[in-house]
Amino acid sequence: MRMRFPAATRISAFTLSRPSSYKTRSWNIKIPSRMASTQAARFGLKDHTLIKSQGFIDGQWLDAKSGGTITVNNPATKEDLGTVPEMGLEETKEAIKAASKAFETWGKTTAKHRHDVLMKFFNLMQEHHEDLARIITLENGKPLAEAKAENTYSASFLEWFAEEAVRTYGEQLPCAFPGVRNVVIKQPIGVVSILTPWNFPSAMITRKLAAALAAGCTAVIKPPPETPFSALALTELARRAGVPDGVINIVTTQKNVIEVGKEMCENKEVRKVTFTGSTPVAKLLYGMAASTLKKVSLEAGGNAPFIVFDDANIEEAVAGAVVCKFRGSGQTCVCANRIYVQSSVYAEFASRLAEKVAAFKVGNGLDEETTHGPLIHPRALEKVTRHVDDAIQHGAKVLVGGKAIPDSAFFLPTVLSDVPANALVGQEETFGPVAALIKFETEEEVIKLANSTDVGLAGYFYSRDVGRVWRVAERLEVGMVGTNTGLISQAIIPFGGVKESGLGREGGHGIKEYMNDKLIVFGGLGA
Ligand code: SIN
Repeated sequence: MRMRFPAATRISAFTLSRPSSYKTRSWNIKIPSRMASTQAARFGLKDHTLIKSQGFIDGQWLDAKSGGTITVNNPATKEDLGTVPEMGLEETKEAIKAASKAFETWGKTTAKHRHDVLMKFFNLMQEHHEDLARIITLENGKPLAEAKAENTYSASFLEWFAEEAVRTYGEQLPCAFPGVRNVVIKQPIGVVSILTPWNFPSAMITRKLAAALAAGCTAVIKPPPETPFSALALTELARRAGVPDGVINIVTTQKNVIEVGKEMCENKEVRKVTFTGSTPVAKLLYGMAASTLKKVSLEAGGNAPFIVFDDANIEEAVAGAVVCKFRGSGQTCVCANRIYVQSSVYAEFASRLAEKVAAFKVGNGLDEETTHGPLIHPRALEKVTRHVDDAIQHGAKVLVGGKAIPDSAFFLPTVLSDVPANALVGQEETFGPVAALIKFETEEEVIKLANSTDVGLAGYFYSRDVGRVWRVAERLEVGMVGTNTGLISQAIIPFGGVKESGLGREGGHGIKEYMNDKLIVFGGLGA
């Protein structure tokens, strides 16, 4: 395999032709920020005013009160991309207060108005497609083509929820009493706390934010410290689209994450918490939100089985495994984690998959030839290395890859054969580019293996037997099944899991997770 090791990031010429500017809270005047311009120039965007180095509260770009900052690095090159503020409890309280005040008016706007604003926001995301994708690649590391696909996916939530906004119908119900009528209306729930991960720096924001805005809710967002620039660029576009002050607030934090997260989950003015990330953190937030019985949507970890039956189209199964296992270098919650292959097609599947993976080109996502980027940071390599070493100790053979590249965040895309079902990689989510191939004999055996985990987000299988397709799809203990496909993600689907993979559904009809049903009984109407 040809290794393309991180090329230097392009640093475009420093220019003051379109200086970044910001309003300060105390003076409320626009002043050019040379530092912000320098930082923005590092991204090499067409519109460098999309790069913000401040948080956003009540319509104002703000530094941290402490003056502290978080440095954000390009995971492919380790270069500094710039800083965002290390905000804390005080800023979080202010953001919640601003969202609460803004809810008084945003919550009363018409659905059509919210539809129009969301569509403007959607159009701006299309207009700035190249720039937004570039920000994703620089801060997350995924190849530019994948970042563009993420931007398209991310924008699709705005379009979808704009269309949902105008279809939040209530109901009239038959009544038990004469002269009385029952009506159910839908009302926005209020202030929403949004906590998102770094693996989809843009799409995980819009999947939640678009639903919240469409419903008439306001939001406080805590983006991940690894990838805050996408969240800030989206906020700038939302502002340009006409989202009023206070409706979206962004608190950036790293060191203060515990107190910020606690406030976002416990503050009485917040009525809903939505989170995507690991199961342990989901449990922690769920406990905090319980103190005031907030509504929650939790999209937590997965450990997806990917099953190849002997009646599958092997070529298609290999293509499905490539996209399912290696999208985002294996760092998605719906990635195949355990690949079970029926014994009679095992050797063929393994050699075809190994051939495809050996052709991957690992490197800087800005390089056109790169097919796969790094992990988010060198720390993430530890778990992947542990899983691979454990599988090898249990008798697995390395067909491709098998190791990290020293002094980097890159792990070579890996295919392991002869992995025993009880190896760590079969038990825990790896979150890395490792295809662990486990042999099985019967349908009954593989269903037991697939369900032998505490989590259940997604599951996949390949078979051309229609009876088996129904049977297996029904028996897999997951929230989402892909049959004869390795890619299920779309705005229209109810995205979410069962067991310890979380609560609630996002996308699809997920707008209802941001609304309350209110019953109004109309009496005294006459017979
Ligand atoms: C995730 O990894 O949490 C989301 C993946 C997706 O939406 O496809």
